[in-house]
Amino acid sequence: MQDWEEQCEELLHFIDESPSAFHAVANLAALAGEKGYMELQETEDWKLVRGGRYYVKRNDSTIAAFSIPDIDIVQIKGFHIAAAHSDSPTFKIKDNPEMPVEEQYVKLNTEKYGGMLPQTWLDRALSVAGRIAVKQGDEVSTRLVNVDKDLLVIPNLAIHMNREAGKGQEYNAQTDLLPLYGEAKEGRPLSEHIAEAAGVKKEEILAHDLFLYVREKGRRFGGNAEYILSPRLDDLQCSFAAMTAMAESCPKNYINICVIFDNEEVGSTTRQGADSSFLQDVLFRVKEALGQTDVWLRKQLANSLLISADNAHAVHPNHPEKADPTNRPFLNGGIVLKYHGGQKYTTDAYTGAILKELCKRADVPVQTYFNRSDIPGGSTLGNISAAHVSVPSVDIGLPQLAMHSAAETAGARDTEYAIRMFKVFYED
Ligand code: CO
Repeated sequence: MQDWEEQCEELLHFIDESPSAFHAVANLAALAGEKGYMELQETEDWKLVRGGRYYVKRNDSTIAAFSIPDIDIVQIKGFHIAAAHSDSPTFKIKDNPEMPVEEQYVKLNTEKYGGMLPQTWLDRALSVAGRIAVKQGDEVSTRLVNVDKDLLVIPNLAIHMNREAGKGQEYNAQTDLLPLYGEAKEGRPLSEHIAEAAGVKKEEILAHDLFLYVREKGRRFGGNAEYILSPRLDDLQCSFAAMTAMAESCPKNYINICVIFDNEEVGSTTRQGADSSFLQDVLFRVKEALGQTDVWLRKQLANSLLISADNAHAVHPNHPEKADPTNRPFLNGGIVLKYHGGQKYTTDAYTGAILKELCKRADVPVQTYFNRSDIPGGSTLGNISAAHVSVPSVDIGLPQLAMHSAAETAGARDTEYAIRMFKVFYED
């Protein structure tokens, strides 16, 4: 197997093992941990040393890994920061979720998390993952949970009962999208599955952050198996690539940081989102632990680069007209450099040029993305993060189709391109 095939397999395995943002962050921490990164707690003092490798989590759904070069502190030139996001659109399970239907069925009460393509969630085997809070003794603690079995389905309405179905349908989240869970007779409460999967007693569960996920595993496909079909490629593909490169790199003159934020899909305005003080707090703590001044930190940041990595739209085979006429990213075409006149993307001439140079040094292809001028496009975390920590920034992504579908399509080769580019970034 070639490098890119191995990294593609590893990506699909990582995504399969990461059914929720909590699992993604635990797996990213493990990835760093295997390469000698030590966990720090926000609640404790930090003692940092030259050549040290560390990571810190917030809410168990956001993580920042950082490494300090093995040189005199006064020689450090700045920060090399990569950012991506751990969450994907899904459905969140409400409290008291069981809803009986005519004493026959039980369905679960859920609400939308983020802007998914709802129709893609129908008629697929689904399950439940996330975290629970449990009380044991006097302590409240949290645990990851994955009910690792086929548990639910959101059934479509037959075409015979909805003749308009083929003409474009609106889905009401409260009435059209609730998953069928079982029969009402001798029904087993969902909390029993959750308790069993978490290895706790049902009575110990105090609260939960539980989400639906699709059961299909990611796979390669295509005439030459050149593509991948997988849930959550946005943005676990970039998260995996950035953290893999981070874990495998040794910083030379810059402090490396890889930060994976939760809640991008719901606007980032949470305690652990890109619109929080998390990255700022980490930088502040690093500065303090290294015994440096505020001015030192400002100087370093002015000489830093932040690469915000969030997947990008490739030209669609059935709708090539939806892409910009002269900037046309394709699957397996390499890193996508994103520009936006309205500054939803942070790339400018200077940072775009640096990114192109990085790709050149890594021998990685690079392509450019703009929205069609009459299509508003989406948002991401680069400009939100840059508003808190003002460093020169650039927005990139890997090309994909069907963004926010329950199963997205991307290029099998592109993950390796991103890893190679991030390694050059982190080692230069
Ligand atoms: Co995204």
